[in-house]
Amino acid sequence: MKWESCADYGALSRTGAAIFLEQVRLNPKSVLGLPTGRTPVGMYDQVVQQCAREYACFSEISTFNLDEYVGIPKEHPGSYFAFMREHLFADVDIDPSRSNLPDGMARDLEAECTRYEARIRAAGGLDLTFLGLGRNGHIGFNEPGTPFDSRTRVVQLHESTRSANSSLFEDGHVPTHAITMGIGTILKSRRIVMLVSGTGKEEAVARLREGKPDPAFPASALWLHPDVTVLV
Ligand code: GLP
Repeated sequence: MKWESCADYGALSRTGAAIFLEQVRLNPKSVLGLPTGRTPVGMYDQVVQQCAREYACFSEISTFNLDEYVGIPKEHPGSYFAFMREHLFADVDIDPSRSNLPDGMARDLEAECTRYEARIRAAGGLDLTFLGLGRNGHIGFNEPGTPFDSRTRVVQLHESTRSANSSLFEDGHVPTHAITMGIGTILKSRRIVMLVSGTGKEEAVARLREGKPDPAFPASALWLHPDVTVLV
């Protein structure tokens, strides 16, 4: 695991964007795993700014988001679909048929999870996946206790996660469930870059640095992967 301490949020965002764009330039058909949350917003801003100057930056790129809420329509401002449209997809030349998020409105959620895994496989697997870090160590929506070989599935959100993510939902209407890629799905990505920023994450960072893979702390699964960079 490589660690890089960035001077501030701007530096973290620029470093993340440089890794993102290098991947896209080296392999214009890359398959990317993408996160939501406050942390990656600055990285996406940088990517958009730099892609605006280039021709066909994203035209052959495929993306798979880590997760999406269950029961929240795409048009809802709190959906991860709306987040991705606002922060990345509306401003780059990505082919909508290649930008994938789990469908949390699917009638058959189990079938949707199986379909999502199959789509990742059919795209050739994830080349590079960006992750954020939840205060309790969650990655995607894999909460503490998630087995490291877990795959895309429906999960119940912890109360702490619901409250951390409540700002775009009216009081009491924060979703209770989500579809998330599993830890096993994430670990299959050829390369992983974790971005860590935000208050109250010091303890999570310290725990990650311990280097002991433990399902009680989901992010520690990254120690089992050969190519992980953590930007803090
Ligand atoms: C949500 C997302 C995670 C993200 C986490 C941290 O729970 N599902 O993928 O890493 O929030 O978000 P933030 O970057 O806002 O701290």
